[in-house]
Amino acid sequence: MGSLDGRVILITGAGRGIGREEALLFAAEGAKIVVNDPGVDIDGSGGDGGVAATVVEEIRDHGGEAVANTDSVADWRGAERMVGAALEAFGDLHVVVNNATIERNRGIADLSEEDFDDVVAVKLKGTFAVTHWAARYWREQYHAGVRADRAVVNTSSGSGLLNPLPLQTNYASGNAGVAAMTVVAALELGRYGVRVNCISPSMARTRLTLEVPGMDRKPEAGEFDPLHPATSAPIAAYLATEACALTGQVLSVRGGTVAVNHGWSRGAHVQREGGWTVAELADEVGKLPMVDPFDHLAEVLGKALGVGGRDQLQAMINNLLDQDR
Ligand SMILES: NC(=O)c1ccc[n+]([C@@H]2O[C@H](COP(=O)([O-])OP(=O)(O)OC[C@H]3O[C@@H](n4cnc5c(N)ncnc54)[C@H](O)[C@@H]3O)[C@@H](O)[C@H]2O)c1
Repeated sequence: MGSLDGRVILITGAGRGIGREEALLFAAEGAKIVVNDPGVDIDGSGGDGGVAATVVEEIRDHGGEAVANTDSVADWRGAERMVGAALEAFGDLHVVVNNATIERNRGIADLSEEDFDDVVAVKLKGTFAVTHWAARYWREQYHAGVRADRAVVNTSSGSGLLNPLPLQTNYASGNAGVAAMTVVAALELGRYGVRVNCISPSMARTRLTLEVPGMDRKPEAGEFDPLHPATSAPIAAYLATEACALTGQVLSVRGGTVAVNHGWSRGAHVQREGGWTVAELADEVGKLPMVDPFDHLAEVLGKALGVGGRDQLQAMINNLLDQDR
């Protein structure tokens, strides 16, 4: 039995790098996968439908279930279509993993309006667009009386959170936005049974990092490879499991180390030199001290307005959301 048996999971940018490793692990853990990837170059140009199709083939060759989707997350209707692809192929959608990115690294004085907009369109707006269409479906299900654990797993980066890098104004801004969006979405979507968390990988050997000195270091045969793009897949999988209770958390992952972020600060961590299995993470990560976003906001509002309390906060959020429908 796998930790993700029967879960239907849409992973964006799943044709290469970290997303591909997530797709392979999630499928091996029993999930049915929508492998989204238009197969673009690092800067977002071009496109190759074979990139998503190849991962689907790999999953099927190992006895798993997957379908391909080649829409762009930056395309509003494309994001709607990829959510629709999960419903059409598998009849439901439990988890969205927002992983897609492009990069165009330039100094601020050289960065064009287009370079800024295009990177933020994939990283930040793309995360919003896919979450939006999934949330519409999950809200409809909730109001139809269907109760299920749903989850969003976003992907940020040290570039934007703990390790700012020059030449990445666009990418870092998008990543910081993704972390902020994670907490707001957790507060809003909790009502519908949706947990929203974020991983922040670091130093994974993909085409984005090949130029970084030292990234070509390979371990001896049989040794754990802390730079392998698969190292963050178990933590993403853990956040996608039905048994995971976490919401509103941003977890930094590097090699075998998983640390809790508190805003722009690093909190407690767990470490395992040989990397993690999903079950081991379920045992260890939940014990780390974390701030529950509901408790935090209730306390802040309580201090400011004298009307704290988690139930009051949830009632206030429900009221605001209902006014809008
Ligand atoms: N590699 C690292 O060390 C590292 C560090 C920090 C954060 N990250 C984050 O991890 C995630 C994956 O990065 P990676 O290193 O695997 O990169 P990658 O380039 O190997 O993979 C990204 C994939 O996203 C796809 N993509 C690009 N634009 C898209 C769009 N509009 N719609 C859908 N898919 C699109 C690409 O075709 C590509 O296959 C990104 O969100 C990145 O910011 C990576």
